[in-house]
Amino acid sequence: MTPIRILILSTALAGIAGCDKADAPKAEETAEAPKTVEAEKTAETPPPAEPAAPAAEAQPFEARAKAAVGTLKKTLMGALQAAMKAGPGEAVTACNTKAPAITAAAAQAGVTVGRTSRKLRNPGNAPAPWLVPLLDEYARLPKDQAKPRVVDIEGGGKGYVEPLYVGGLCVTCHGAQEGLPPPVKDRLAALYPQDAAVGYAAGDFRGLIWATGQ
Ligand code: HEC
Repeated sequence: MTPIRILILSTALAGIAGCDKADAPKAEETAEAPKTVEAEKTAETPPPAEPAAPAAEAQPFEARAKAAVGTLKKTLMGALQAAMKAGPGEAVTACNTKAPAITAAAAQAGVTVGRTSRKLRNPGNAPAPWLVPLLDEYARLPKDQAKPRVVDIEGGGKGYVEPLYVGGLCVTCHGAQEGLPPPVKDRLAALYPQDAAVGYAAGDFRGLIWATGQ
């Protein structure tokens, strides 16, 4: 695959991720504050200023989870696209150094996010116990039935998951071992000696992007 072709693919993919506009309720819809007795009494003072939009933490968990997951997808895809300009081998190194920090930075409004899989590249992405049965379940589900979901986590808190599927760009680094570009193969061997995240074809279930919070 030529770098140009990879770039076009990645741009197309980013387009798909970009369609994922947050459908969180508008802040104004929930910002109506009940009038207080105090405000009624002091009629001559000007009405209080419009209450500020509720703090991000006041949004329902699902909205906050979707927003944080959206940030993670967008930022990772942006970093991947930028890194691909220097070639797929360089991009492996860039993912290695940047993905963990990007993932940590995408946490927002009391929500932590990450990616996981049954076939891991980075052992740091190993699934928490609540994600294990979901990985198996989504692996069996046909793609058109695999919808994002909110679950209660045993022991407290809520979890949110979205399935991730392999696209054309992804096989550059997650496809069949023998088909990987040599610079990718070399970097993967050096950086991830235990790499299990290969052998995927376009359309395969790759894993989950997740969020946790209260
Ligand atoms: C340039 C090579 C490259 C490309 C292209 C690429 N990845 Fe990865 N991927 C990596 C590397 C390196 C890691 C490990 C980085 C980390 O999270 O620490 C990784 C990790 C992951 C993980 C986290 C689970 C794990 O195995 O550690 C998922 C999920 C994932 N990739 C999915 C995708 C998807 C989906 C695409 C296509 C949109 C894609 N990747 C494209 C190199 C790549």
